[in-house]
Amino acid sequence: GKVAVLFGGHSAEREVSLKSGAAVLAALQRSGVDAHAFDPAVLSLQALRDEGYDRAFIALHGRGGEDGTVQGALELLGVPYTGSGVLASALAMDKWRSKMIWQAGGLPVPQCELLTADSDWAGVAERLGLPLFVKPANEGSSVGISKVKSLAELPAAYHEAAKHDALVIAERAVLGGEYTAAILGDTALPVIRIVPANEFYDYEAKYLRDDTRYLCPCGLSAEQEAEMQRLALQGFELLGGSGWGRVDFLMDEAGKPYLLEANTSPGMTDHSLVPMAARQSGLSFEQLVLRVLEGAHV
Ligand code: DAL
Ligand code: MG
Repeated sequence: GKVAVLFGGHSAEREVSLKSGAAVLAALQRSGVDAHAFDPAVLSLQALRDEGYDRAFIALHGRGGEDGTVQGALELLGVPYTGSGVLASALAMDKWRSKMIWQAGGLPVPQCELLTADSDWAGVAERLGLPLFVKPANEGSSVGISKVKSLAELPAAYHEAAKHDALVIAERAVLGGEYTAAILGDTALPVIRIVPANEFYDYEAKYLRDDTRYLCPCGLSAEQEAEMQRLALQGFELLGGSGWGRVDFLMDEAGKPYLLEANTSPGMTDHSLVPMAARQSGLSFEQLVLRVLEGAHV
């Protein structure tokens, strides 16, 4: 039957989604699937049912696509869709609530606080140490994130993050390395280490620069990699995730991993991590996309 690839959307990650969606659409078409582009920023989702689509591949990122809202609409329309359901999508979008759940489940997360306009900046810096990271709780692709190196920069970092979300978090910097584990079905793919050439793996390092290095194999011992994969699956499951996704990690200097966040509709651009991990495990981009589509559900 007909498959709609949902991409574009209204979020700050629209440009990224346009690339992810175009890659997914082309791969489905090359594989003989009757797939069509569908941008919910332009068309009402009702058209999916009216035009006889029988599945939706969600390649939207950020709010209004990855956060449970589109998933809820598809549930009501009865159109099966890829990836996590409403609750897991909403929880994973919210970095603050993801951390609360992981903490409650005994998983390691970097120390973190909520900020408000009248936070005691000196107290925050003292408790979390410097540098620290300030982030909008609900955002993706590092939009609105600052690495704060001095107390004087903290209020401006808060105001920058607050442009993107009402909920702003400050997080202790964990500086021993950035890693990510992709999840496909009920298994974790090989871990990737990310070595950004700038301060951290920000929007620029993700999509605009060509000097970010990706290591896969990631250089960890087999035991450490297996531990990270286990934590990824456990973290994803605690949020109720399903189908596919990606859990991002930081490692401290002593080699201890911390869960950073989960992505329920990870990037599928030519710079993206899940396709890279899939390739390392012997799956082509086409095979990856077909596996994700097979997991579509209502
Ligand atoms: N939020 C971006 C798309 C990612 O996680 O890959
Ligand atoms: Mg994210």
